[in-house]
Amino acid sequence: MKRIAIFKTNIQQQNQADEVFITLTSILPSSRINFDLEDSDKILRVEDPDVDPDIIISVVQGLGFLCKSMPDKICKDPTNSADEMRTFWDSSFIEHEAMWGFQATNSAILAKDLFLGKDIKDILVPGIGYGRNAQVFMENNIKVTGIEISQAAIALAREHYSPDLEILHGSVTDMPFNDHLYDGIFCYGLVYLLNPDQRKKMINDCFNQLKPGGWMVFSVISVNSPNYGKGRKVRKDTFEVGKGAQVFFYDTNAVREEFGNYGLLDFFEIDEQTNAATHKPSFRFIIIKCKKEVEF
Ligand SMILES: C[S@@+](CC[C@H](N)C(=O)[O-])C[C@H]1O[C@@H](n2cnc3c(N)ncnc32)[C@H](O)[C@@H]1O
Repeated sequence: MKRIAIFKTNIQQQNQADEVFITLTSILPSSRINFDLEDSDKILRVEDPDVDPDIIISVVQGLGFLCKSMPDKICKDPTNSADEMRTFWDSSFIEHEAMWGFQATNSAILAKDLFLGKDIKDILVPGIGYGRNAQVFMENNIKVTGIEISQAAIALAREHYSPDLEILHGSVTDMPFNDHLYDGIFCYGLVYLLNPDQRKKMINDCFNQLKPGGWMVFSVISVNSPNYGKGRKVRKDTFEVGKGAQVFFYDTNAVREEFGNYGLLDFFEIDEQTNAATHKPSFRFIIIKCKKEVEF
């Protein structure tokens, strides 16, 4: 678990902070160190799972500055709780609204073709957002039920697509919301926002909500995507994006490990644009197809 240690100092100038930063970084190369010189306590902040406040105090004092631990301010890393995810996504949708445009993703179009070929008529879409991927199913007479944590996204989905669109408000970490079994599940870009335990539970919960013979299609970000490795590293292949969301990048091993027990049939990489209208560079996703076999 990452800990954040906070110290009160008398460091006044940026060049003094830079000197302390360079010295501390050479001793604690994997720590994240920053200052808040605007604060009246001239705060020094050190993120490190094994941080020893006494070492930091002695280094900073050795450089000629005052340094005092503020233990009441030692705090834990974000836990990726439902509350944290709700806050992050609500503020994103309030600020950016329909941020990825209104066109369905390539993954949704492929899933729609698969579902039509399998006569799938009733699907669950966890993390439905404001519905850009739901429309392609609905216009092909596939009934969509969404799950979405952000009330702001749900309001946008009802405004832009259908006021009657059924969306269960809550976190997928609290699945199941009902005991209905669906013909299919389509999940674009949500499971990789969860931590390892949350992903395990969600994939299992989705599989449990499939009818025998049903299909689930997940689309997840790949380690080969150009945005891999951007942002603070949280754990292996997991990086922080924005203020508080974490993204796990999948490789073939991770796909096999997480979906292998859930009817994994096929997976392959695919390009996805962030927003087709803005022609931004593509991300690399992996489409994962699973089938729940009928038991005899
Ligand atoms: C990367 S976005 C993808 C949205 C949508 N699938 C799309 O492609 O337009 C992830 C979505 O999952 C939602 N979400 C994030 N965490 C969630 C959770 N724990 N439970 C339910 N929805 C969640 C977000 O609010 C957001 O709408």
